[in-house]
Amino acid sequence: MCGIFGVITNQEIPIGKIALEGIKRLEYRGYDSVGIVSQHEGKLFIKKDAGKIDEVHKKLKLDDFPGKVAIAHTRWATHGAPTKVNSHPHTNCTNNIAVVHNGIIENFMTLKKELIRNGHKFRSDTDTEVIPHLIEDKMKEGLDLKESIIEVLKICKGSYGLAILHLDLPDAIIVVRKESPLVIGIEPGKTTYCASDIPAFLPLTRICYILEDCEMAILRAGEVDFFNINTSEKIEKKSQQIEWSIDAAEKGGYKHFMLKEIYEQPTALRQTLKISEDEMKTFAQILLSAENIYITGAGTSLFASLAGKFIISRFLGKFIQAIECSELKIQLKDCLKENSVIIALSQSGETIDTIEAIRWAKKTQNVKILSITNIVGSSITRYSDHVIITRAGPEIGVAATKTYACQVLTLGLISLEIAKLRKQENEEEIQQYEKALKSTPQIIEAFLENNINLIKNTVKNLEKHSNYFFLARGISIGIAKEGGLKLKEVACRFIEGYSAASAKHGPIALVRKNFPIVFIAPPDETYERLIGNVMEFKARGGKIISFVVESDKKITELSDITIRIPQPGNKYFNLFSPITFIPALQLLAYYTAIFHNLNPDKPMNLSKTVTVH
Ligand code: F6R
Repeated sequence: MCGIFGVITNQEIPIGKIALEGIKRLEYRGYDSVGIVSQHEGKLFIKKDAGKIDEVHKKLKLDDFPGKVAIAHTRWATHGAPTKVNSHPHTNCTNNIAVVHNGIIENFMTLKKELIRNGHKFRSDTDTEVIPHLIEDKMKEGLDLKESIIEVLKICKGSYGLAILHLDLPDAIIVVRKESPLVIGIEPGKTTYCASDIPAFLPLTRICYILEDCEMAILRAGEVDFFNINTSEKIEKKSQQIEWSIDAAEKGGYKHFMLKEIYEQPTALRQTLKISEDEMKTFAQILLSAENIYITGAGTSLFASLAGKFIISRFLGKFIQAIECSELKIQLKDCLKENSVIIALSQSGETIDTIEAIRWAKKTQNVKILSITNIVGSSITRYSDHVIITRAGPEIGVAATKTYACQVLTLGLISLEIAKLRKQENEEEIQQYEKALKSTPQIIEAFLENNINLIKNTVKNLEKHSNYFFLARGISIGIAKEGGLKLKEVACRFIEGYSAASAKHGPIALVRKNFPIVFIAPPDETYERLIGNVMEFKARGGKIISFVVESDKKITELSDITIRIPQPGNKYFNLFSPITFIPALQLLAYYTAIFHNLNPDKPMNLSKTVTVH
């Protein structure tokens, strides 16, 4: 969940500045501490401390390093508190090896005890620190650095993306991966980069290699060699050209990535609409012939699944069960059948619980895995039978925004292919749904143009409240949960995202005068019943904030605040309301965070990519 970045060059460029800017672009992966090490004239130069990158930079001048090679780390603490000593890089006893690590060495306690018995001195509580000490021991046995790393990794259990410097190899960085992502960027003949994610070097190069599990790369200035760590043999890899625009990883005039990415939704959706029909058709055909269908993900991706299961079953005519990825194995272990299909959603394609769920299902019953992710070459793509890559572009804000909209849109496009193949609806009907789905970017654009003041005023009106209900029925329960999650994570409010019908079976006990209750209320088949639920809460003094369509009257009359989504109130548009309603809720969360002086790009305790169980 941490971020690592490395740079090695033969150019006259400020190595510290490049390393600092690179690691800053990965700060969404964790911001408990930061560290950079360069090597120059036979010495390692290390600066590191606990805190966000800007804070540490102010104290330590993280852009000032000598030399032409550096590695950097931004940490999301797992083993050991977020302190200076636990910050990466970690070194060995003789301070000639420096390591930055993303992942977990699960058997580090045993390894550490053994190393201490053999005289090694440890400085930190981290699992990572065993690695430089183990490499030191292997090199004492006469192995070179590359072979030592390979031997060390044979005894380390767990996951890693590693970047390693050694004073004896001043013109190289060695990187290795297993289960934690690592990508290499290259300006041929000049500069080579490594990073946990592509946006880290996107402004510098678009030529990239994706390291697979159990592969090692030796980076030299403008060159890279690849090896398989199981055989030690050299391997050939093809480079890829990154299509994301260069400014995608920059804030570009917006105060925060979250706001920029909310505003990017119309473009992200239009790009995703361009994905070929054939890709959708492949998914559609597999779903049509499946007996059991499950849809899974974590966090926002799970909430996209809650919307997606409604959208797909609308045309498929089969029940789709949404299961949280970490629960999938435990819930299906006695009943997973061969002719099942799992649709897995993951923005990053690296969420460990999602990966583990699909790997288990594949191994147990050889079920088909259909994945939807935003990241080319991510781990999920390796374990899936078919993959659709959404075209949201890089998402840097820790809270998922545009990637959620693109996931649901993709599920919508698949559902329309199903409708076309299944022919239960007449053509005209399908065209109406298609028109509604393709209008989602315009609806969001129109909302964003005209409603910012209303959202800001709503935030002000709610300033004293730190507990909320977000209630809905049917397909909108997923919207309520996702909207609530946004407010929870970026604005630190407590939200219960719940079924409006179930809320009277317990949660309603909390309602007192002015308790805020947000209702998500497109005029679908649940609308009339939802009116009853609104009344139940209003009767108890609740403050009603409703998200409705333009023409809404009944729920508007019952509400204290109404936020109107500019879309027609018919069944075609209702089906895709999980896409068109969500920007309003994202903005509510964003401006609430701003109002309370919180940084929405860096919510406390979070990391964007969750690679631990
Ligand atoms: C919330 C958020 C997380 C992620 C979750 C899954 O805003 O971003 O809840 O949705 O960690 O991540 P992916 O989609 O990368 O598998």
